[in-house]
Amino acid sequence: MRDNIAMAEEFVKTELGKDSSGHDWHHIDRVRKNARLIWSKEQQGDWFIIEMAALLHDIPDDKLNESEEAGWLKLDSFLQSIQLDSETSSRIRSCIETVSYKGGRMIELDSIEAEIVQDADRLDALGAIGIARTFAFGGKKGHPIYEPDLNIRGEMTLAEYRNGDSSSVNHFYEKLLKLKVKMNTDHARQLAEERHQFMETFLDQFYSEWNGKA
Ligand code: ADP
Ligand code: NI
Repeated sequence: MRDNIAMAEEFVKTELGKDSSGHDWHHIDRVRKNARLIWSKEQQGDWFIIEMAALLHDIPDDKLNESEEAGWLKLDSFLQSIQLDSETSSRIRSCIETVSYKGGRMIELDSIEAEIVQDADRLDALGAIGIARTFAFGGKKGHPIYEPDLNIRGEMTLAEYRNGDSSSVNHFYEKLLKLKVKMNTDHARQLAEERHQFMETFLDQFYSEWNGKA
């Protein structure tokens, strides 16, 4: 089992190592640590499945591949190349499948492993790390850090957002501040609450400084 983890680490480092959109190796490693934290409190789920899914969860991301299909092929060929029985392999794959669903589509998480990995990934979008990733992502896309005329505290219309007229501060209202109620596990909910508070404090300070207040 240990060898499989080492192989997954190496594969992910090669695939994502140079990404600067917030999906680099360190993101993966933090998601694994968050997952470990949740798993050790929840005392449920198979750690090997969780660890493998955490390590591999961004491999099929459409942002990192020519197409979503190409990403899934990459993941599948890796899973086939290592020594896993087919049940274990399909549990890891289905965990990643549920975690990587984006946007409006709702999907039932059907295992505690998937719940933990999804919580761990979402936690890395919150708190101090989440703030840093948001501005790194926005900068890479050429978005302004904040644009008061465009985004009135989250009241930007969806059409404006789809036009790409977003700012990094607006991303807090579009997504980050909505995450804490979406946590699956109790421990992740608690961690999310703390990180949420930190982001609220950050935003208060940000607006004070923006408006020239002491
Ligand atoms: P993941 O796949 O790891 O859950 P995403 O691919 O959705 O995360 O985003 C990667 C990072 O970039 C996250 O921290 C996320 O909050 C941030 N991000 C995503 N979209 C935007 C955006 N429009 N503006 C600023 N930050 C963003
Ligand atoms: Ni991720």
